[in-house]
Amino acid sequence: MIEHIILCEDHLKILDQTLLPHEKKYIECRTAETLIEAMQSLRIRGAPALGIAGAYGVVIASLESRTEKEFLERVEKIKNARPTAVNLSWGVEKVLSGIESYKNTEKMREIAKDIHKDDVQRNKKIGEYGEKIINDGDSILTHCNAGALATGGYGTALGVIRTAWEKNKKITVFADETRPLCQGARLTAWELREENIPCKVIPDSAAGFLMHIGEIDVVITGADRIAMNGDTANKIGTYTLSVLAKENNVPFYIAAPLSTFDRNSISGKDIKIEYRDEKEVLYFYGKRVAADVPALNPAFDITPHEYITGIITEKGIISPPYEKNIKEILK
Ligand code: MRU
Repeated sequence: MIEHIILCEDHLKILDQTLLPHEKKYIECRTAETLIEAMQSLRIRGAPALGIAGAYGVVIASLESRTEKEFLERVEKIKNARPTAVNLSWGVEKVLSGIESYKNTEKMREIAKDIHKDDVQRNKKIGEYGEKIINDGDSILTHCNAGALATGGYGTALGVIRTAWEKNKKITVFADETRPLCQGARLTAWELREENIPCKVIPDSAAGFLMHIGEIDVVITGADRIAMNGDTANKIGTYTLSVLAKENNVPFYIAAPLSTFDRNSISGKDIKIEYRDEKEVLYFYGKRVAADVPALNPAFDITPHEYITGIITEKGIISPPYEKNIKEILK
């Protein structure tokens, strides 16, 4: 199992995902500021992993704050470091709701570590439920990275794939490269390679063609926030995949823990989409590839619930009608 978020005595150790797959280097976050920088630069990323880092971030904020006011200001900044992944504020709030004072650092550690451990267990349950939709010999398409690196250490969409592999199903994974930051080509492919799970990276734009010629049996992605009607925010390009999947009769699944559901979002319209620096699109590894024009860089999109075959959670697979069944599972 990849250990990529480690809480030490006075700092948080994080595997810098921007350097993967070429370099495996850890950074040390000793302040809320360095942690926020790490989140915003995607050194740590993926909704459940952000939730865990946010929970540990409360510990870091407690260690460096001299007054409650300072502590609360830092915690608020951590909570808002990235807007789309609901797990981030969820993780922060969960720690805050379990303490009585901003100096209660030991209690914070305990809660944050539990959140981390619990996430891995929940991912494994997602894997158990999800692997049933995978047949021996299937080719699975996934987008972005919803693996160990994006979670506490096992994965949601990749957790399903891992479990199917552990059960000796002969599968092949197509990993969308996931422009502009290539989480699929760099991170998903790296994770699968580490475990010898057969994987091919494809350009994002190849997915439709491969579905059309029958090369893809099922699509599984993660989620950053799921609204109460099932509309799902995930990495930009997910919506396109879902439409292509419907057109080509390929089942399209989302895999996510219940912490990704947002009771305050009635539909996808309520979800804030993060827009990132245009340089991520205009440049590739420091070299400008685009002509002298501006770019637009939405980091996420919304997949309307009508395009989703099922949502795989740690409590089972949610099928339509989503509004009714999500309410039921969250009770
Ligand atoms: O911008 P990122 O890399 O944080 O985006 C991550 C994704 O979109 C993941 O697919 C999502 O968080 C699910 S992670 C289990």
